[in-house]
Amino acid sequence: MSEHIERTFVALKPDTVKRGITGKIIDIFEEAGFKICGMKMVWADSEILEEHYAEHVDKDFYEGLEEFMSSGPVVAMVLEGVNAVENGRKLVGSTDPKEASPSTIRGRFAHMSFDHADSSDTLHKNVIHASAEVDEAEREISIWFDEDEVHTFEQAHESQVR
Ligand code: PPS
Repeated sequence: MSEHIERTFVALKPDTVKRGITGKIIDIFEEAGFKICGMKMVWADSEILEEHYAEHVDKDFYEGLEEFMSSGPVVAMVLEGVNAVENGRKLVGSTDPKEASPSTIRGRFAHMSFDHADSSDTLHKNVIHASAEVDEAEREISIWFDEDEVHTFEQAHESQVR
């Protein structure tokens, strides 16, 4: 496998699942040629969220983030593609939907802002999580997926988009 082929971890957050827009977002990744190597629905508990967000657990916003991320199930995915981590983040857009370009997933499906969430009783609902770095992706995939839940296979159209 080429050194440029990577796997990234993506979670469609509880707001996305409750709004019934998971299919639209999965479509965006599939249209771009990403391969879904793993996918499952998980209702995350504090144990998995504290591991996933280990670097943020001591921050002021963590309580709200955990409340939001455990407010319903997420769709957890492993996506494979050319520089999948960087390209995945490009499709997802800025962490704060207010700053995200309208052509990105967060910009298209949300307009929430950190300022609004922090100054009101609202949770910061930003649709989707995608790994920021290659080593972070490896760590996150191992938190959410067992090895036998991530599959290696050839897509029919693979040679057309790689
Ligand atoms: S990133 O995407 O990792 O570079 O973003 P970062 O700014 O480091 O934020 C990490 C995650 O924390 C969430 N976050 C917040 N949630 C609620 N309220 C506030 N104020 C807040 N600040 C940051 C942010 O959505 C990131 O979660 P993910 O799941 O990565 O989107």
